[in-house]
Amino acid sequence: MPLKNKIEELKKRKEEVLQGGGEQAVAKQVAMGKLTARERIIALLDEDSFNEYDMFVEHEARDFGMDGKTLHGDGVIIGTGSIYGAPVAVFAQDFTVAGGSLGFMHARKITKIMDYALRMRIPLIGINDSGGARIQEGVNSLAGYGEIFWRNTLSSGIIPQISVILGPCAGGAVYSPALTDFVFVVDKISKMFITGPEVIKSVLGEEISQEDLGGAKVHAMITGNAHFYSESEFECFEQIKKLITFIPWNNTRKARRFEPKDPKSVFNINEIVPGDSKQPYDVRNVIRAIVDDSDFFEIQEMWAGNIVIGFGRLNGETVGFVANQPMVMAGVLDVDSSDKAARFIRYCDAFNIPLCTLVDLPGYLPGIDQEHAGVIRHGAKLLYAYSEASVPKMTVILRKAYGGGYIAMSSRHLRADFVFAWPGAEIAVMGPEGAANIIFRKEITEAENPDEMRRKKVEEYKEKFANPYVAAAKGYIDTVIEPEETRKLLLHALEVSSTKVADRPFKKHGIPPF
Ligand code: HXC
Repeated sequence: MPLKNKIEELKKRKEEVLQGGGEQAVAKQVAMGKLTARERIIALLDEDSFNEYDMFVEHEARDFGMDGKTLHGDGVIIGTGSIYGAPVAVFAQDFTVAGGSLGFMHARKITKIMDYALRMRIPLIGINDSGGARIQEGVNSLAGYGEIFWRNTLSSGIIPQISVILGPCAGGAVYSPALTDFVFVVDKISKMFITGPEVIKSVLGEEISQEDLGGAKVHAMITGNAHFYSESEFECFEQIKKLITFIPWNNTRKARRFEPKDPKSVFNINEIVPGDSKQPYDVRNVIRAIVDDSDFFEIQEMWAGNIVIGFGRLNGETVGFVANQPMVMAGVLDVDSSDKAARFIRYCDAFNIPLCTLVDLPGYLPGIDQEHAGVIRHGAKLLYAYSEASVPKMTVILRKAYGGGYIAMSSRHLRADFVFAWPGAEIAVMGPEGAANIIFRKEITEAENPDEMRRKKVEEYKEKFANPYVAAAKGYIDTVIEPEETRKLLLHALEVSSTKVADRPFKKHGIPPF
């Protein structure tokens, strides 16, 4: 056959694969308000950058009517491309082909691109839209999941792994995204749960919709499984692209450096934090007053709002921010906020992203609910993550730093490299009211006017301890600074710590309080 004809044949074969699961299945996908797998890849990657592999892979299943059945690409598309010029490896499950169910060859394609991403040390993006394990293929599809989980774990901390949930992601399938670094969900499209509504109905007799069980809002607001929430697939792809600009390709590199830009003048750092330590404010505005172009990219924005995490740039370099949020529950640490911050700190540490911590908190949340939910175990994760992190660590104490919260929030004692405090900082074992009530109990109860005595003793305590100078006198903080000096000092700290060496004794790995 002449080459020309062979080329024609190739084109015809490709054309067939591009049909996915056929007209009807594609129409159903569109009717659900979803893009097709190929449209998603094209929308996400740089124009014309996608190269597909394993397009002609075929399944080998023979049972339950599978013999001779054509499943184009076996229900998943894999390949490589780029985002703003940064190389990425991608897989996208194609729900139009057998519900994107994961058979043996489907899993082989995913593990192939995972191996490729790890070998080339480039980020992996997985778009999930699947009915789960392909029922007809039995244990072979379960094996496929196991192979994926193993690779997720092997790659963890070496290459960034991003999961996008754009359809059902049910049963054991949820554990691949859960093992990755960032999970993106889209309203009304993402569905993520271990056991579906039918099982819940038959076992527990309860009726619940897929949306209420594991929709996008559930994971963005309640479980914390999702890191980014959006209203549409296109908005979701924009978020992924932005994330890619903040993170490095792998753990041996730094994130790409951008042109430095001053913060916007609308964020006046002197006017954000109220003098009265009980007054709330939005700590994100302090971050915006510090970072380049006031551009703060928040992560897990809708969950555990008492702590804020995300990326910003200082002098063009990516920095991970962790900040107590006085606007939500006075910024206390609790089970969820400790989990949220600890994982982010470990991410930044693994990927050479310096950490900047902004402190303003009354301590850990008291109460039986938190104690029984394991605030000791979860709170310890934060101490572990900060102590373990060897990237440059810069801390700014904005206002309150009480008790365990002071230690946990990247204190000198956990080896922060730079600790700055604003003049309004109060560094003490506990709040002045609580402290005065305990240590001056006798004087207060025996006084002619206990209320006045309490007020006097609170003031006395405040004057003695609730300021930054006792800690400064011990060198626990390096210097007391004016708010408007913060950015300048942080830029300098970053520069000085660019060649930081943090020696650690050898160990296989630690045993964090997971
Ligand atoms: C084989 C499947 C499939 C599956 C869907 N399909 N899921 N084929 N194995 N797991 C097929 C359907 O038969 C149908 O084929 C096509 O995909 C589209 O599915 P529909 O049901 O028509 O779509 P929809 O109404 O949108 O419902 C989507 C769904 C539902 C909610 C995901 O398909 C569903 O409940 N599927 C089964 C989910 C499940 O129980 N999976 C196993 C989980 S256990 P045709 O040919 O008719 O178009 C698991 C274990 C993993 O995953 C363990 C790892 C540790």
